[in-house]
Amino acid sequence: MNIIFLGPPGAGKGTQSKRLETRYGIAQISTGDMLRAEVKAGSDIGREAKSLMDAGKLVPDTIIVSMLESRIQQPDCARGFILDGFPRTVAQAEALDVVLARLSRRIDVVLMLEVDEDALADRIAGRFSCAKCGASYNDVSKPTLVAETCDLCGSHEFIRRADDNRETVASRLSAYRKETLPLLPYYEDKVMVAFIDGMAPIDEVSKQIDSTMTEVE
Ligand code: AP5
Ligand code: ZN
Repeated sequence: MNIIFLGPPGAGKGTQSKRLETRYGIAQISTGDMLRAEVKAGSDIGREAKSLMDAGKLVPDTIIVSMLESRIQQPDCARGFILDGFPRTVAQAEALDVVLARLSRRIDVVLMLEVDEDALADRIAGRFSCAKCGASYNDVSKPTLVAETCDLCGSHEFIRRADDNRETVASRLSAYRKETLPLLPYYEDKVMVAFIDGMAPIDEVSKQIDSTMTEVE
């Protein structure tokens, strides 16, 4: 099963991708997480990406496509993958088609997570995660159960993403409208596109996705 998650920043792509990864035993591939790992490692890619990410701009297609191409061929993707945050431009989608054709694979479904723009900035500004195990939290929708203690690993250290502030969210949204929304007509011509109400509570969103997936299987 090969899935693409589309949706604006903060729509819940990462949250729902992780749930799908567990449910279907397929790999979540987040280009944002891959880039943040490069930034943390201080690699050439990380150095080039950091200022763009901090400004809410897209990283060049060539960098992203070559990263994705090698990731998709790793053993944990053999049963399938969930693309979270990729493709983000029509050029990336076209490059993905070429890579998949060469590997004799295809996309089974595109899940489009729809959320009101007003809700996105609050979700993003509220997001934080455990520095030790990566568990994700939110000031509003999912605070820690015990004050400032990770429920999973007990750590007291938490981090926020450098691009999770209201100014950067505005640029990320504008990049989404301009570069990523044109992917909808691109995919509607080729593959099943399912529209999911991302304004519902997290468990409800998962149920909508589950019922869509039964149609795909
Ligand atoms: P990336 O890391 O992909 O960020 P994004 O697309 O902006 O998406 P987010 O991770 O912010 O949101 P999400 O939809 O995953 O939401 P989440 O589940 O966390 O990209 C970052 C940057 O990297 C880009 O700006 C760009 O510079 C670069 N980049 C990455 N990929 C690229 C590419 N392909 N090409 C070029 N550049 C690229 O949820 C958000 C919060 O809301 C969480 O706290 C969550 O708990 C909460 N939440 C989730 N669902 C709900 C719900 N239903 N109700 C209430 N709260 C909810
Ligand atoms: Zn933790």
